[in-house]
Amino acid sequence: MDLFFSEKFKNMTILVTGGSGFIGSNFIRMVLKNSDERVVNIDKLTYAGNSENLAEVAHLSKYTFIHGDIGDAELLGTLLLKHQPQAVINFAAESHVDRSIVSPEDFISTNVVGLFRLLHASKDYWSKLSSAEQNAFRFLQVSTDEVYGSLAPNDPEFSEMNRFEPNSPYSASKASADHLVRAYHHTYGFPTLTTNCSNNYGPFQFPEKLIPLMILNALEGKRLPIYGDGQQIRDWLYVGDHCDAIQCVLNGGVTGETYNIGGQSEMTNLEVVSKVCQVLGELAPLSDGGSYDDLIEYVTDRPGHDRRYAVDITKINRELGWQPTQSFETGIKETVQWYLEHQGWIDRVRSGEYRDWVAQQYG
Ligand code: NAD
Ligand code: DAU
Repeated sequence: MDLFFSEKFKNMTILVTGGSGFIGSNFIRMVLKNSDERVVNIDKLTYAGNSENLAEVAHLSKYTFIHGDIGDAELLGTLLLKHQPQAVINFAAESHVDRSIVSPEDFISTNVVGLFRLLHASKDYWSKLSSAEQNAFRFLQVSTDEVYGSLAPNDPEFSEMNRFEPNSPYSASKASADHLVRAYHHTYGFPTLTTNCSNNYGPFQFPEKLIPLMILNALEGKRLPIYGDGQQIRDWLYVGDHCDAIQCVLNGGVTGETYNIGGQSEMTNLEVVSKVCQVLGELAPLSDGGSYDDLIEYVTDRPGHDRRYAVDITKINRELGWQPTQSFETGIKETVQWYLEHQGWIDRVRSGEYRDWVAQQYG
């Protein structure tokens, strides 16, 4: 196989947390398809975790799944010693802003306390390695652009120098985690890396998030709920590009540094939903010749709704040569096509807890 990870990571084991969710499962599939490295995935399998996301690699001997919680310090200590990873990549989190408004405590438990336990156990494990092994080791925290707060229409994009101004319980929990990661580097010299990325979309995304929710609702002829005036802006990043960026940061990032990752696709929510409707119209035209746009409905706004996110990717581009390869135009076609081809996955995901959430959130 070609060198997928840099020389220092050859024959390594990567401990991935939250690998059964949307981004983590895309990352694990990418690593296992393109390298010989071993992956150990610890995931609590919350409502958002789905073993089916990794069905195509689950049989590989270089893949190990552990059903567990990143807040379980004892389990972490045991499995770090057993698997001896050279890198830990933390995807595990409660990730949905609307849920953080309804039940913030879960976000503190996993995103703050859980992250702390994982960070501390990893630091303890790292401190007992040889100095060569210590130099090669990395702890990569996957974070979000939401820690920077909300931008006005003409503000410059978020750079790594922006101050943290988190506005939701979710973003506050992620900001707390980022501070802990920074402190562990500063205090203990623990070799951390942090990535702050924008809104991801693509295959295997749980349909509580805007794009898959809209695709699935439209296909069922259900209303497409736009919060407030639909003029909030997000920067859309195709999940495969995000996974490539994480690989770049792991390979070449400077420890203690943070790297912003964005898709260079700023769009209003209304534009995004209209585009989804247009692509659906091309790939799955309505039999009566109608338009999916007719299903759009404005609903009560999200409390504290951030108006605009936009990400400056100068640093990761200049230092590590990364830039997104997918435009929103190409990425959204692939995404819609994927959902059209995976009705079984959709049906299984939407049973049970998902139904209760939709009933509670949208009435
Ligand atoms: P997701 O909700 O799809 O998946 C989260 C995964 O973490 C699930 O598999 C879940 O079972 C697992 N998990 C939750 N709590 C756990 C715990 N205590 N112990 C172990 N596993 C646990 O999330 P995602 O969209 O894949 O996001 C992954 C990471 O990327 C998160 O940290 C999120 O904050 C960050 N992020 C996401 C986006 C996005 O647009 N989705 C953008 C920026 C940053
Ligand atoms: O910016 C990165 C963040 O992007 C990640 O850190 C989060 O984990 C991820 O969930 C995402 O947060 P958002 O709140 O931006 O994503 P969401 O898909 O929930 O919503 C995107 C936009 O669409 C937001 O402005 C709210 C709006 N929206 C969302 C839903 C679910 C609607 O208008 N209607 C909806 O039904």
